[in-house]
Amino acid sequence: MKKIIIANWKMNLSIKEAVIFLKKMKADSAAVVLASPATFLSSLRLVVTPKKIALAGQNVAKYPVGAYTGEISGAMLKEVGCRYCLVGHSERRIYFGETDLDCQAKIQRLLEKKIKPVLCVGENQQQRNHGQTKDIIKKQLLTALAGIKDFTNILIAYEPVWAISTFQKGKVKKSASLSDIITVHRYIRQLLKNKSVPILYGGTVNPENSHDILNLQEVSGALVGGASLKVSSFTAILNSIK
Ligand code: PGA
Repeated sequence: MKKIIIANWKMNLSIKEAVIFLKKMKADSAAVVLASPATFLSSLRLVVTPKKIALAGQNVAKYPVGAYTGEISGAMLKEVGCRYCLVGHSERRIYFGETDLDCQAKIQRLLEKKIKPVLCVGENQQQRNHGQTKDIIKKQLLTALAGIKDFTNILIAYEPVWAISTFQKGKVKKSASLSDIITVHRYIRQLLKNKSVPILYGGTVNPENSHDILNLQEVSGALVGGASLKVSSFTAILNSIK
């Protein structure tokens, strides 16, 4: 199976820059998914379709429809061609107070619309220091996925908060070590009772480390933030897959 590489553009770029980026990009070696700002989606749809790049939302409302000013529903994401949507990214959890129960509702809204949720889980530095990594992952995962019987359309991204580049203070950014990645990915797989759910890694994936990370058998792909903002670094990551 092809590795899945998701670009998470967060709140960066403009529609014009995004279109130029996509026109330059080649995406043959992996299944590429682009999580772009919501206002870009309808313009990007025309550019990504011939390149076989799938679109993703970065967030979805936990309610299906109605008086929720500022929110975007699953139906709206579907209408602009999204096949995936991130859920519970650590920035949503930290800056916007999103809880595991919110993630649970959002996953339901997405599945109702046949959009694949990419559930992001991961411990912060303090939890890691206290040896709570597995407990945190277990709580995030089991709460958000409670009640789900069919896992066919679910994806998980393990993103340790301390390894996400924008949460790191120094100039030199570090991803998790290969052995940490292997340990947590195996643990997630075990929690999911070995179901064939893709488990991606995210947190400072860049052209220097992507070869080693993406060639791990435990890793189904990557969620890439900072390095997905330039065609050169994003393409180098795609090219590092064997
Ligand atoms: P990063 O971001 O690759 O810049 O660490 C990953 C993410 O936040 O999804």
